[in-house]
Amino acid sequence: MDLKTEILALKQQRNAVILAHNYQIGEIQDVADHVGDSLGLAYHAKEAQADVIVFCGVHFMAETAKIVNPGKIVVLPDADAGCSLEQSCPAEQLEAFLTANSEKNYYVIAYINCSAAVKALCDVICTSGNAVRIVQQAPADRPILFVPDANLGSWVMEQTGRKMDLWQGSCYVHVEFTRDSINRIKQAHPGALVVAHPECTQAVRLLADEVCSTEKMVTWCRNAPAKDIIVVTESGMLHRLRKECPDKNLIAGPTDRCYCADCKYMKLNTLQKLRDCLLHLSPRVEMEESIRTRAEAPLLRMLEQSR
Ligand code: 13P
Ligand code: SF4
Repeated sequence: MDLKTEILALKQQRNAVILAHNYQIGEIQDVADHVGDSLGLAYHAKEAQADVIVFCGVHFMAETAKIVNPGKIVVLPDADAGCSLEQSCPAEQLEAFLTANSEKNYYVIAYINCSAAVKALCDVICTSGNAVRIVQQAPADRPILFVPDANLGSWVMEQTGRKMDLWQGSCYVHVEFTRDSINRIKQAHPGALVVAHPECTQAVRLLADEVCSTEKMVTWCRNAPAKDIIVVTESGMLHRLRKECPDKNLIAGPTDRCYCADCKYMKLNTLQKLRDCLLHLSPRVEMEESIRTRAEAPLLRMLEQSR
C-alpha cells in the first residue's frame, strides 16, 4: 500500500480530520480535508466533529485546535515544528513586561503565532487575515500592546492609523526577502504584480501590489489583472496557488540567498510522519486546563470579532 492510501485508510479508521496549512508540502496538502490559513483552520478545528484532529502545520496551530476543541484528540506529525515568532515572545517575558508597565493598562493583542501561555495573558488574538478588523475593534481609550510580530504590527498601524506599542519579534523566513531581492525578480518579469505577506518588512511591503494573508492570496491571484504574479511568502503557498489559479504564472519571491523561502519548521512534516501520527495517535497536544481556558477566551473573542 502506498503512503497516501495508508493515510486515507487510517484517517477513516481513526475517524480523523486532516487540516493542513498553506505552507505544507504539496503531498500533505493533497491528502488534507481542509487546506488554509491560520484563521480558516482555526474555524475548521473549532467546528470539527471527528474524534481526532490531525494538524499539519506548526505547534502553535495544533495547540490552537486543542484550545478551541478540547474534547478531541489533537495530533501533529512533528512536535518540533515550532515558529520563530512564538520563540521571540516567551510567556515569562511578556508577563514581566506587563507587570513592569501595569500603570499603562495595555489592551494586549497577540498574533496567533504564539504559545498558549502567551495567549492566556492577552485580551484578544488575531491572524494576518483579520488583524486590521481586530485592531479596529479595540477599545479606543486603552493603549495597545501588539505581540509578537513587529512587522505585522507596523503594517496594521499603517492600515488603521491606530498607534500601538510593538513587541520586537519577527518571522525568520519573511524577513529574508529584501528590497533588492524583490526588485531583481520584478526586473526579470516586467509587468508582473507582487503579492506579499504582512510578516515581510516595510521595505518589501512597499513593493507589493497587495499585502494579505495566505488565504486571501488565493482570491487575489485568481482575480488579478495580470498573468505573472510574484508571490512573496513561504514556498508551500505556490502549490496551493498553482492548483487554484492554473491560468496564472506564479513566481516564487526570492531572498538574497535562495530562489525561494522555506520555513524549516513547516517542512519538518512529511507524509511518513503524518502516517505515523495517525497510526500511534502521537505526538499529542496536551495542556493544563487552567491555561487552556485562559487562552480560549481571547481566541473566542477573535472568532466572534472576525465573523
Ligand atoms: P497565515 O495565517 O496568513 O496563513 O500565516 C501564517 C504564518 O505562519 C505565516 O508565516
Ligand atoms: Fe513561524 Fe515564519 Fe514559519 Fe510562519 S513561516 S510558521 S511565522 S517561522
